[in-house]
Order: sequence, then structure tokens, then C-alpha cells
Amino acid sequence: MGAVILLSLLFIILIMLIVMTYYLRSVKLQQDNMEVPTENSQTEKSKENVLSSQTFIYTAIVLTSVGIIVSFYMMVRGTIWEGHLMEWLNIVVRLMHITFGIAWIGASFYFVFLENALNRTSGVREELAGNLWAVHGGGFYYLEKYKVAPQAIPKHLHWFKYEAYFTWLSGFCLLFVVYYFNASALLIDKNILDITPLQGVGIGIGSFVVCWILYDILCKSALGKKGIWFTLTGFLIAVGFAYFYSHVFSARAAYIHFGAMLGSIMVANVFFVIIPSQKAMVKAARDGNPLNPQLGKNAGLRSLHNNYFTLPVLFVMISNHFPSTFGNEYPWLILALITLGTAGVKHYLNLKEKGQLSVWVMPVSIVILLAAAFISAPEKPGACKSEVSFAEVNAIVQQRCVSCHSSKPTDEVYTAAPNGVMYDTPDEIVKKKDMIMQRVVVTKTMPQNNKTNITQKERDLMRCWIEQGASLK
Ligand code: HEC
Repeated sequence: MGAVILLSLLFIILIMLIVMTYYLRSVKLQQDNMEVPTENSQTEKSKENVLSSQTFIYTAIVLTSVGIIVSFYMMVRGTIWEGHLMEWLNIVVRLMHITFGIAWIGASFYFVFLENALNRTSGVREELAGNLWAVHGGGFYYLEKYKVAPQAIPKHLHWFKYEAYFTWLSGFCLLFVVYYFNASALLIDKNILDITPLQGVGIGIGSFVVCWILYDILCKSALGKKGIWFTLTGFLIAVGFAYFYSHVFSARAAYIHFGAMLGSIMVANVFFVIIPSQKAMVKAARDGNPLNPQLGKNAGLRSLHNNYFTLPVLFVMISNHFPSTFGNEYPWLILALITLGTAGVKHYLNLKEKGQLSVWVMPVSIVILLAAAFISAPEKPGACKSEVSFAEVNAIVQQRCVSCHSSKPTDEVYTAAPNGVMYDTPDEIVKKKDMIMQRVVVTKTMPQNNKTNITQKERDLMRCWIEQGASLK
């Protein structure tokens, strides 16, 4: 009952806040349309006031929405709708995460492309570093890049930062929705390390802070200027993290944490280095002070690092669909190889955009990726005994699977059959035999985190039964 009252209250507040944003928008429009466009300090001041109230109200809207979700959660907790609420949170937050991520990485790719593809030679004015003609979406575009800064900094300057911040924020929320709220199910694998949910969440979040500090120290150290040594050390540290995660979390969670770690470094680069450098540059240019060229260089280097992180991070974000990668006996090794290989591919693309010919980067990257595919290939199966009966297989399924995969699961976490997969009747088992082969035999990602302690012998029996035609005899 209390939750319902709270919920109604929050809804009313939300509606009021939304009405207020429209009101402030109309005030701002009026100010913008004022007849005398003189830079009167009083109107400037009131404009600023409107802007800061607007920011305040947006923040309040976000907080109220979070409050609404939390009270919803309180209402449905312990009912069958709890899972449904989590699923929809997952959908919404994931969609936001992907959308912001595409905007961010798209901008990152675009600007690295610009930098690489600039015409720096023919007919470039003295103050320019280069220019570029492009045609897109039915229009012609002409861009110029300044060597340092223009004579006067224009009033309306586009910054590219919220894409990055929102990608990280939504990713962080997703980490909570999928892994942290349900830590005992997806984050922790007691066969790997027996930790409490709170410890798991603490280690996860703490690791992001530690990795950023390490990376930042590395960038500022003498190694930071030595391209190849920096890359090597950085890569080894990353592999160390992959190894660490895969010895602390379940394999899937280990992969996601590796990606979240790289993603956190990327956002921290934007937040702590790139944007502050740019702000200092804009300020110096506005004040007419000489520009410290180091600022631009620092920002450029961090943004280049981010560019190399993108493909490895993108792989991790889709890795959940590929149990043959995280389900491997050495998940961190596969991850390290794919990280190296995809970063290599990015390197090749960057070189190509600059018009440089590189003979070995692409082939080596492909060989590394092929090595990952080779190592993760399933082992050659052992011999089967003449005929495995359905009774034997059914006994295994009843013992190892139906605690989750049933119309009435007994598992404490999965109170509804995961993905709707049930093994209550022989028919249901036979129908799903290919998926069973994939998840139980080939990738060994079922039973989940091997919670029900299936043995290799039992996996072999299931394989033999399926290979022999999965008959009900
Ligand atoms: C601890 C609970 C649990 C146990 C025990 C378990 N599973 Fe699962 N299973 C899940 C969850 C959760 C998912 C969905 C997430 C995923 O695909 O990893 C799933 C997904 C699957 C899928 C993929 C379904 C799809 O639509 O992609 C198959 C196949 C599967 N399980 C088979 C089995 C078999 C066979 C066993 C017994 C040997 C088993 N599972 C034991 C929890 C469990």
C-alpha cells in the first residue's frame, strides 16, 4: 500500500517537472527572440539562470524516474512480475546503451577518419592544418581543421561529450540490472570463487577504479611516449585484468567486466583529459593567451587510445552470444587474442585511411584471430558405447537441468524456466537436442556455471545419445 501511495506521489511530481521544462523552454525562446541582441550583462545573467534551472529540473526528472522504478520494484518484489520488470528495464537500458554507444563510437570513428583523410597540401590556407570535401545524405560538406585555434572562438561550438558520458552511465546501469542485482546467478560462479554478492560487486566496481589509475600512471610515465613499449605494457596489464576477472567471476561476467573496464578507461579519458584540455584550449584562445600545444597533444593521444579500444569493447559487448569464447577452458586467453587481433584490425584501418601501405598488420591480426578460433574449437570427441538409452539421458537431465528448466523450477534464482526452455517431458528434450549439444557438450556453458555439478562423463553420454539419433528408446 505504501508503495502505491509513493508511486502516485512520484508520478504527480514527474508531471509537474515536465510541465516546468516546457515553461522554461518558452522563457528561453522569448529571450532568444528579443529585439535588441546587444550583449547586455543583465539579459546574459537571466539567460544563465534559465539554463541552470533547466539543468536542475532535468536532474530532478531523472531522480524522480529512478524513484518510480524503485517503488515499482518494491510493489512487484517476490511476485512473478519481478522478472518481467527486470526484463523491461534490461530492454530499455540496453537500447539506450547501444544508441549512445553508436553515437559515441560513430563520432570517434568519424573524427579519426577526418584527421587521417584531411587534405593537408593542396591549396590550404596558412592557419589551417587541412580541409576535406565530403558528400553525404544529399548534401555537400566542406570542413576545415585549424592548426591551433581560429582567431576568434565562435559562440556556438559543438562539444562531443554527452555521448560518452551517457554510454557509460547506461552501461553501468545495465551492469546492475543484469549482473549485480542478480549477483548469485550471473556474476558469481562458486566453482570459480566462492564470494558473496556484495564482495563480487565491490571487486567489479573497484577494479574499474584501479585500472584507470594504472592506465593513467602509465600514460604519464616515461613509457607513455614510447609507442611500442607503451602498447606492450598496456596490453600485458589488460591481459592481467582478463586473467583476474576470469578467476573471480563467472566466465560471462568476466568478459563483460573486461569490456566495462576498457569502456571506463575510455570515458575517463574523455572526462579527465580530453574535455579539460579542450576547455583550457578554448579559454586560452578566448583570453588571447598563447596555447599550450601539449594540451592538444595529450587529448589527441587519449582519443587515439580510445579509438583502438573500440573494437575489443564491441566484441565483448556481443560476446554473451558466443559461449565458445567465454566457455573455453582459458577464457582470458581467447579474450586476449581477440583484443589483440581486433585492435590490430583497427590499426590497419587507421593506417589505410592515412594512405600508408602496411604489408603485415592485417595478415598478422587475422592470424591472431584465427588462433583464437583454433584454440576455442571443441575437442575431438571420445568413443561412444554401442547404444545409449533415453532412460540414462533422462536421468541426467532430471538431475542436472530441471531444477531450472521446468515449468516449476526448484532453483532459488530461476523461478521461471530460463528462455522458456523446459525438460519436463521426453518430447521437450528431443526437440531441443541440437541446443543441448551446443550448450552442454560443445561449449559446456550449461548447466549454468555448472551449478548442478554435471560430470564430463555425463556430457559424453548426452553427446553419444544425440549422435546416435536421439531416440526415445
Ligand atoms: C542454474 C540454472 C540452470 C541449470 C541447472 C541449467 N540451465 Fe540451461 N539455462 C539457464 C539460463 C539462465 C539460461 C538462459 C541464459 C543463457 O542462455 O545462458 C539457460 C539457457 C539454456 C539453453 C539455451 C536456450 C536458448 O534459447 O538459447 C539451453 C539449450 C540450456 N539452457 C540447456 C540446459 C541443459 C541441457 C541443462 C542440464 C544439463 C541446463 N540447461 C541446466 C539456467 C540453467
